[in-house]
Amino acid sequence: MSILIKNGRIVTAVDDYVADVFIEGEKITLIGKDLKVQADKVIDASNRLVLPGGIDPHTHFDMPFGGTTSADDFASGTKAAAFGGTTTIIDFAIQTKGESTLKGLDAWHDKASGKATIDYGFHMIITDMPDERLPEMRRLVDEGITSYKLFMAYPGVLYVDDGTLYRTFRQAGENGTRICMHAENGIVIDEIIKGAVKDGKTSPKWHALTRPTRMEAEGVHRAIAIAEVAKVPLYIVHLSSSDALEQVKIGRARGVDVVAETCPQYLFLDHSYYEREGFEGAKWVMTPALREKWNQDVLWQGLKFRDLETIATDHCPFCFKDQKELGKDSFTKIPNGAPGVENRMSLVYNGGVVGGRISLNRFVELTSTAAAKAFGLFPKKGTIAVGSDADIVIFDPDRKETISVNNPHTHHMKVDYSAYEGFQVQGFTETVLSRGRVIIEKNELKTEGGGQYIKRATHGSLLR
Ligand code: URP
Ligand code: ZN
Ligand code: ZN
Ligand code: ZN
Repeated sequence: MSILIKNGRIVTAVDDYVADVFIEGEKITLIGKDLKVQADKVIDASNRLVLPGGIDPHTHFDMPFGGTTSADDFASGTKAAAFGGTTTIIDFAIQTKGESTLKGLDAWHDKASGKATIDYGFHMIITDMPDERLPEMRRLVDEGITSYKLFMAYPGVLYVDDGTLYRTFRQAGENGTRICMHAENGIVIDEIIKGAVKDGKTSPKWHALTRPTRMEAEGVHRAIAIAEVAKVPLYIVHLSSSDALEQVKIGRARGVDVVAETCPQYLFLDHSYYEREGFEGAKWVMTPALREKWNQDVLWQGLKFRDLETIATDHCPFCFKDQKELGKDSFTKIPNGAPGVENRMSLVYNGGVVGGRISLNRFVELTSTAAAKAFGLFPKKGTIAVGSDADIVIFDPDRKETISVNNPHTHHMKVDYSAYEGFQVQGFTETVLSRGRVIIEKNELKTEGGGQYIKRATHGSLLR
């Protein structure tokens, strides 16, 4: 099968020009002006942007968490991602305490295999790592797992102590892999929560009020210090506050190899959502929590000046009915997380490019290229170039949509609310190719399944 995409404005992290893209099989094989080639299918991309498919390096599909399981599985989640212009996700496989990470990986392969419509990789969540099991981490590299997530938060669930952090960081560094860090001092936060609950403060807003930004900043500081000594490249996930960003800047100024990710929820939503009537604030109970609005400008500055390198969603949806409601009597029982995998590209294009905060090239870098580079997918993914996978989004920069659970164009996620209900966006995904297959054409799903597990390369560092 060959496809010719004609007359589109091709935008990568560094390029911006009008040309044709020729695809044979899964790969881009030719790019040029007015290509004279025979193609099985021709797509006219006049007045459209032709972008590298989005890469969302932080999703939780089919994840057991908070006494329930996230509402999107790999079938619904990857379809929703595709509608929104994302062609690769990196999800989190979880190791059960006391058991092999390889067993955890098998379990996540079973969840995803044969279900995904777009390509996917896994980070490995490590919940313990005694010395005798350290060699597993090398075997994970052979399986294409070249990054790990560890948690300073959620004591008793995913939390690991500083000794485990150091041990794992050192091994990861030796293996040429990267550490992803959920940086928040969960031990102190748990004490604050205990005090709040004792005082009867149990409504959703107390989830946020018991997680001060200083405790996020402390986690970032500690993670950077440990990574510096252990010599491993670090990636701070879902950074949410000015206080935390300040610590990233200090670490980088010292020469530590640390990059950070933020998410649309921290750029577009704020603490006031918890003040909504009744239990509605539970929709935005996520960790880290939504912050005071002024933090948003600081995060946008971080994106502009490159202290923040990627925008991922941390898509972790729980239905308001039945799932979020588990915490009706206490915020401590509300499953943490919110949906967003489908809305990322439009939100960031609208808020970033239309809003004049970042360039079009930077938009591509933040939503695709930087994640590909940080996580061993580049240049197979993350750019439009001869030899790269034909993961391509044809994007209408003028089209306006209102994000809503009731808008069939903006909501294919299997969750009963939108975190961005009523948001008006300009810039919308129209047609999507995944490794040369047209999976969405003019906003209609053309084929399901066909997504592949992608083994990721070791890297060293995005900064090198
Ligand atoms: O609230 C969130 N973020 N849930 C997903 C788990 C995590 O910490 O990323
Ligand atoms: Zn996390
Ligand atoms: Zn997460
Ligand atoms: Zn519409």
